Amino acid sequence: MRVGKQKEEKHYAMGEETTIAIVGGTGNLGKALALRLLAPGVRVIIGSRDPEKARSVVESLKTSPSQGTIEGKSNRDAIQEAEFIVIAVPYEGHAQIVRELKGHTTGKVVIDAVVPLNKGKPFVPPAGSALLEAQEILAHEAPVVGAFHNISAVDLQKPDAPLGDVLVCGDDDGAKQRVMEIIRRIGARAFDAGPAANAYIIEGLTGVLIHLNRKYKSKHAGVKITGIGQ
Ligand SMILES: NC(=O)c1ccc[n+]([C@@H]2O[C@H](COP(=O)([O-])OP(=O)(O)OC[C@H]3O[C@@H](n4cnc5c(N)ncnc54)[C@H](OP(=O)(O)O)[C@@H]3O)[C@@H](O)[C@H]2O)c1
Repeated sequence: MRVGKQKEEKHYAMGEETTIAIVGGTGNLGKALALRLLAPGVRVIIGSRDPEKARSVVESLKTSPSQGTIEGKSNRDAIQEAEFIVIAVPYEGHAQIVRELKGHTTGKVVIDAVVPLNKGKPFVPPAGSALLEAQEILAHEAPVVGAFHNISAVDLQKPDAPLGDVLVCGDDDGAKQRVMEIIRRIGARAFDAGPAANAYIIEGLTGVLIHLNRKYKSKHAGVKITGIGQ
């Protein structure tokens, strides 16, 4: 435990390269998040069910100036060298993808951004939330942290656009802190929003944001926490 903590402190203090794999990284959220992560020098590996598709998306993203490096691979290969694995697939593919990752996540942090939606409407899945579903499947193999549910891909893909706040939840405090550090590096405020049991609220909030976007003809509604200085 102590060794891991020391490694983490050294990692950020020395500014060493952070490697983040994005499973389903060829989609709207994955591509936009990749662009934001590349700017401060993160190494990004875009994962896809089809490695050719991943490589083609990487070529399209390389046109933006950035400090980080980017590669495209199959989902399984993408996660091998990563310290962090972002799950960015539609809920329909969530459980299956997490099952495929199982056995390959030891020593890594899984960041779950998935929102259970049915035709744009949120629902609570049998496990209680997407995050709890991932946690149940991985069975303590790796900590699962919920993040990025309420942040708009439209804002993420524009390097200078202000970002909404990111509510981070999960049962592993150390993993949450590490994820919050990444969120700050991409220019957003991160808040520890409690345990994994809170995930269904944060995931469900995205359904409210989707409604707000429709109602007010926007594409990037987000959340802002007030009353807490950072
Ligand atoms: N878009 C946003 O602004 C946003 C914001 C916050 C959270 N989210 C959440 O993040 C997740 C991804 O959103 P998105 O808009 O990026 O989705 P998306 O573009 O529809 O899909 C992302 C990628 O997931 C892969 N995929 C699609 N169906 C799959 C399946 N059945 N099994 C495995 N992989 C599958 C595809 O990649 P390959 O074909 O290359 O494998 C696809 O490019 C969703 O759960 C969404 O609710 C999205």
